[in-house]
Amino acid sequence: MSILSLVDLTKTYATSRGAPPCRALDSISLEIEEGEFVALMGPSGSGKTTTLNLIALVDRPDSGSISFEGADISALSGSPLAEFRRRKIGFVFQDSSLIDTMTLEENVALPLALDRASPDSSAARVAELAESLGIAGEMGKFPCEVSGGQRQRAAAARALACRPRLLLADEPTGALDSRSGRELMERFSSLNGAGEGAVLMVTHDPFAASWARRALFLRDGRLFAEIRRAGDRRAFFDRIMEVQSAMEGGAP
Ligand SMILES: Nc1ncnc2c1ncn2[C@@H]1O[C@H](COP(=O)(O)OP(=O)(O)OP(=O)(O)O)[C@@H](O)[C@H]1O
Ligand SMILES: [Mg+2]
Repeated sequence: MSILSLVDLTKTYATSRGAPPCRALDSISLEIEEGEFVALMGPSGSGKTTTLNLIALVDRPDSGSISFEGADISALSGSPLAEFRRRKIGFVFQDSSLIDTMTLEENVALPLALDRASPDSSAARVAELAESLGIAGEMGKFPCEVSGGQRQRAAAARALACRPRLLLADEPTGALDSRSGRELMERFSSLNGAGEGAVLMVTHDPFAASWARRALFLRDGRLFAEIRRAGDRRAFFDRIMEVQSAMEGGAP
């Protein structure tokens, strides 16, 4: 069953000083299945963040529809919108966006507190996530006291706290060295394999994308290509590289 369905989404941004408006997305349609791990790739400015912002209802499309679990969510506002964001989706931003004055533990527990989880169930969930993301020893520290990779993992734990049906991650490995990036991908794919919900991950990095089951490529606000992982990760990585070079080479 599909958890997310985008149909003909178009988004144009006004530009200043009379320049023509910028068409960030041009009639994009895509579906994400329940529990699926999808990578969203494409050059800078191709519309990846815009896509995530529209799905999270941070921004609104000019036209087209967005359905989540079969219901049209494009018109949600007020408290149903806040509830959708809190319960159904999780976000991981490129630069982790943790709250500096709270420990990692408090950061991860925050969405559970907003969702009025009991202290016991919240503590159990935080401990479980810290364990599975490999940051159990760091939870009493503040964000400035841990490494960038540990901050990213804490941000992932926070995004996953309320068991979202869909995790939206924008360049989660962008600021990481290759080893920390690999570790985060291993954790994502094992959490995803354990039925934690679907993941839509924006990345420039073919290696990070090779952990997904499917890769979508945007160019100039349009869907340029879509490939599925059939065999092992190495073979998928090679195909991702091929599509990337075709895309950069200007093939239609
Ligand atoms: N708030 C905005 N106002 C005006 N134009 C915008 C705005 N946000 C994005 N754009 C434009 O829309 C296009 C798509 O931007 P978007 O942020 O989705 O790209 P991206 O694929 O995420 O790129 P990157 O890999 O650099 O993060 C770009 O041309 C960008 O300049
Ligand atoms: Mg972006």
